[in-house]
Amino acid sequence: TGKTLLAKAVANSTSATFIRATGADLVQKNSGEGARLVRQLFQMAKEQAPSIVFIDEIDAVGTKRFDTSSRGEQEVQRTLLELLNQLDGFESRGDVKVIMATNRIDSLDPALIRPGRIDRKIELARPDEKTRQKIFGIHTSGMTLAKAATYDTVMAKEKSISGAEIKAVCTEAGMLALRAQRKCVSKDDFEKAIKTVMLTKKVGAPESFYA
Ligand SMILES: Nc1ncnc2c1ncn2[C@@H]1O[C@H](COP(=O)(O)OP(=O)(O)OP(=O)(O)O)[C@@H](O)[C@H]1O
Ligand SMILES: [Mg+2]
Repeated sequence: TGKTLLAKAVANSTSATFIRATGADLVQKNSGEGARLVRQLFQMAKEQAPSIVFIDEIDAVGTKRFDTSSRGEQEVQRTLLELLNQLDGFESRGDVKVIMATNRIDSLDPALIRPGRIDRKIELARPDEKTRQKIFGIHTSGMTLAKAATYDTVMAKEKSISGAEIKAVCTEAGMLALRAQRKCVSKDDFEKAIKTVMLTKKVGAPESFYA
């Protein structure tokens, strides 16, 4: 739904240092290494202030704590504790801001997202009709479309499509036209593309498994 894209836009529109990491980057094999990376991340942010720390897919480290004896889980929890600790240490930071993104806010540890650590939660829902139309416009702006291929004729019935899926449909339709060596993308191309993209979604096959 554009979470990572929004962070990129933030990075582009600010002159502050932008530091990006993903939750998965912070999950390390060796004991204590994840926590050390978290400390380094925030240390760097402080040195480079004003700065923005963006941690994408935070659920890799931020899920609820529970009793566990597995070494891997314990390591993830140590990393999370360090993250909580660093967020607390930023009470007076002012010029260091932290942004995190997740698809699974309900699975996050409440301690991580309580006010004081993460103050503002912004939900990026699936786009509404008007937004879908705009996103379609963005991703077809570089293409020549057949007269019959418009948002209304090809996309209007997809009510719960995400921004990423709209982009995938447009790219796929463009590929079909290219493959057939046509100069413009037809309504038919879009219909086929929607089938491919939406089928992949239902079946859950990885993107690279496109037929
Ligand atoms: N609102 C939007 N406007 C234009 N393009 C969009 C929008 N939302 C998504 N897209 C397109 O979809 C692509 C993927 O979106 P993005 O990676 O930001 O999604 P995400 O919310 O981070 O998804 P995930 O949870 O899978 O990480 C973007 O690079 C962009 O091309
Ligand atoms: Mg993302």
